[in-house]
Amino acid sequence: MSQGIFITMEGPDGSGKSTQIALLKEYLEKEGYDVLITREPGGTAISEAIREVILNKDFQEMSPVTEMLLYASARAQLIHEVVGPALEKGQAVISDRFVDSSLVYQGIARGLGVEKVYEVNLNAIGKYMPDVTFLLDLPAEVGIARKKGQKDLDRMELESLEFHKSVAQGYRDMAARFPERIKSVDATRPVEEISDLIIREVSDILKKN
Ligand code: TYD
Repeated sequence: MSQGIFITMEGPDGSGKSTQIALLKEYLEKEGYDVLITREPGGTAISEAIREVILNKDFQEMSPVTEMLLYASARAQLIHEVVGPALEKGQAVISDRFVDSSLVYQGIARGLGVEKVYEVNLNAIGKYMPDVTFLLDLPAEVGIARKKGQKDLDRMELESLEFHKSVAQGYRDMAARFPERIKSVDATRPVEEISDLIIREVSDILKKN
């Protein structure tokens, strides 16, 4: 087991992960942790370069298997270069998305199968499974409407509403499958209420460590 704490934030596009990550960081710093925040795909020079390829909306021909392998490659480098060393040093790491995104987007929404995607990803993550994962649960329509207001949509965000509905449901299935690790929170609730729930859960974990 590593000494730090590894927390991942998951949810459909537009579910408010960044806001919650910032609030959780504040809390962990008050608790005396050195906090590292990272995002997927990305977080290292190589992973950010892979991100450019994955999300490029000109690459409509990308096959689901290529997509799965690229996300896993970006993840392998992030673990090797950033997450693994930080946890070994006792830091708190919060990642905006991690392996559950692949299980849901590639395994379920793209139809590759959760088991297959998990197996491939084990090569990337090794022993570094999150201590806790928060699912910001949101209806697909709400997430997409929030994103549309924000920026140019990337290749994944341009997918059909049906795809995003399958993502939202896929996350619920994953939360039911791993109830010990994945804690689901209603992302339509006010920001402070969601943050209180998350912080309470993390504080319980810190007490047990
Ligand atoms: P990003 O702009 O980071 O999305 P968000 O702000 O919603 O987190 O883009 C990441 C996109 O990649 C997002 O649509 C989810 C998708 N994704 C996967 O399909 N598989 C993965 O393993 C990861 C990490 C992300």
